[in-house]
This record gives sequence, C-alpha cells and structure tokens, in this order.
Amino acid sequence: MKTDLLKLVEYGGCSAKIPAKQLEEILKFLPLQSDPNIIVDIDTHDDAGVYKINEDLALVFTTDFFPPVCSDPYEFGQIAAANSISDVYAMGGDPVLALNIVMFPSKGLPLEAYAEMLRGGFDKATEAGVRIIGGHTIDDTPPKYGLAVVGYVHPGKIMTNSGARPGDKLILTKPLGTGIIMAAQRMGIAGQADIEEANRQMKLLNNKGAEVMKKYGITGATDITGFGLAGHALKMARASKVTVNIKMKKVPLIGKSYNLVDDGCIPGASFRNLEYCESDTCFAPDLDYNLKMIAFDAQTSGGLLICVSESKSEKVLSDLKESGIWLPEIIGSVTEHSDKFLYLSN
Ligand code: CO
Ligand code: CO
Repeated sequence: MKTDLLKLVEYGGCSAKIPAKQLEEILKFLPLQSDPNIIVDIDTHDDAGVYKINEDLALVFTTDFFPPVCSDPYEFGQIAAANSISDVYAMGGDPVLALNIVMFPSKGLPLEAYAEMLRGGFDKATEAGVRIIGGHTIDDTPPKYGLAVVGYVHPGKIMTNSGARPGDKLILTKPLGTGIIMAAQRMGIAGQADIEEANRQMKLLNNKGAEVMKKYGITGATDITGFGLAGHALKMARASKVTVNIKMKKVPLIGKSYNLVDDGCIPGASFRNLEYCESDTCFAPDLDYNLKMIAFDAQTSGGLLICVSESKSEKVLSDLKESGIWLPEIIGSVTEHSDKFLYLSN
C-alpha cells in the first residue's frame, strides 16, 4: 500500500510551530549575546540570523523542520526543503549549503518513504543551487523533515523585518490558504484541484521573487509561514516601528479557501495566531470574518512579503509577473506608527 503521510499527523507543516506567544515567553530568558559581527539575531524575530565574516560577506543561517503537509513522501521532501531555503531568500541572501534534519519512524513506515522524502529534498535543494553536505536522523513518530541552510549575503544588502518604511507598498508573491486546504483535506472535503494547487505553491522556491527584490534594493521583507500573513506582518511592523495596513480583499487565495472557512476549515493554529496578534491589531469594523481568519491561516512554504517604495512598486510588480509569479498585487501599505501595529480591512 502507498504511504499516506498526512494520516500520521494532527498538525502538519508550519502550523506545528510552538505558538508565537509561548515562544516569546521562553526566548525572554535567553541572554543576549554581544558580538559585533552578529548583524541579525533573534531580537527582531527575523527569518534567519546573519553573521558578518568581512566587509563584503556575511552568512545567513537558518533552520526549519516540520511534520508532513501532504500525503506523498517525495512531495513532502520538496516542500520541506523549499520552505527551509526560503528564509535565506527572505533575508536577501543566496542559499549555498544545507544539512538534512530528519525524524523518521524506522519501524512504523517503509524505509522507501524515508528515501523518497530525502530525494525530494535533494531535488529541491539542487534546483536552488544548494548542496546538501550532511544531516542527522532520529527515530521518531511522526516523521519530520527540514534543512539547516547557510547562505551568503552582502552585509550592506540584508533584507529584514526592521526594513519597512512609511510610504512603502506591500506585495505578496504566493496566494494564501495552505492551512485551510490541509484542514479540508483532513475533513475529506477538499477538491483535488485545490489540493494540487496548494502542493504546487508550497513546492515553489522563492528564488524568483528574491531576484526581483535584489534588483530593486529592497530593505524590508519576510516570508509568510506558520504565524500567517497577519502574524508575520505584525512582527515586521513591530521591528520597523511602523503600522502595516493590509487590504484582505486584495490578497490572492488558493482555490476555494474562502468558502472552506464557511465549512469550518479553520485550523487551530489560526486561533493561536489571532490570539497572539489581537492586542496589537486594529480590525476594520466591517472586516469580513472569512478574510479575517484567512489573515491568520498558518502557511507552509508561503510567499515573500515585500515592502517597496511607491516609486518602484509598479516596476517590481511587472518584473514579478514577468518571472512567472502568480498574480502579484499590492495588498497594502506601510504608514507611520499609529495606535496599533497592524490594521486589517476588507
Ligand atoms: Co521565515
Ligand atoms: Co523559519
């Protein structure tokens, strides 16, 4: 019988992250390190750490791993690798090297599934120009997979959560809804086309969007993963000390995500993300409930959220379209910090 990884997990992908609120409580107890070569650390909740080697070179260093988000082991490997590598792109870096991080039930699943998972990761890493030069596996249920990735970046060209400026426009490079579609799949009500589209989006590398960001000297960017569009936008707003305004009707969605919310496809992670963001968020009084919950939907291997000055925004949009990115649109803007960090409207 064919291995169906999705049957083994309750929370898959980035929705398996520890809730942001708990994580922040724990991180408070870690001492801050003072080293002049640390350019980006956990302080700004960025996608990766950055460490300066010399005036022209810094290392971007990141890791992500999670339980299955899809049924097929090869596809899961591709998605896990694309997601891990994405944090390097989100910092403006070029990913170079990686290590496999694997948990696999050696008695619970056929070893072919393990091999397929690693092959998927290898193929995706190769597509990104990343060499996997080692790894580590623990016997554990359910399986989990991801990479630790090292990339190069020029110390003066790093894109961070703290680089959003008032007047910037916001662009998102992948549609939302992977968490909702996964929940629908588990409930047996997801359409095959939606499942395939969600898997296709999660497998896409963020390399093309990253190339466009580099071309236009973007300073503020992140990728959308487990804390949802709203959670990652809020982290950016806090780090940049600005207010991020998102127009949810402008945000592209995967397939029937909107209607699936009506059918009760709201993963638990959405409520945890909402709880984390609530006190720093202003909700427009007429904000549509489905769009609100979609803003908090945990994405796995989501798109880049790019902050770009108004004067460059049209060019960035057309370059993104030219590179084949799915309907990029301006989904909001950055303003001076007002009473809340995040403003969500229709
Ligand atoms: Co990230
Ligand atoms: Co990450």
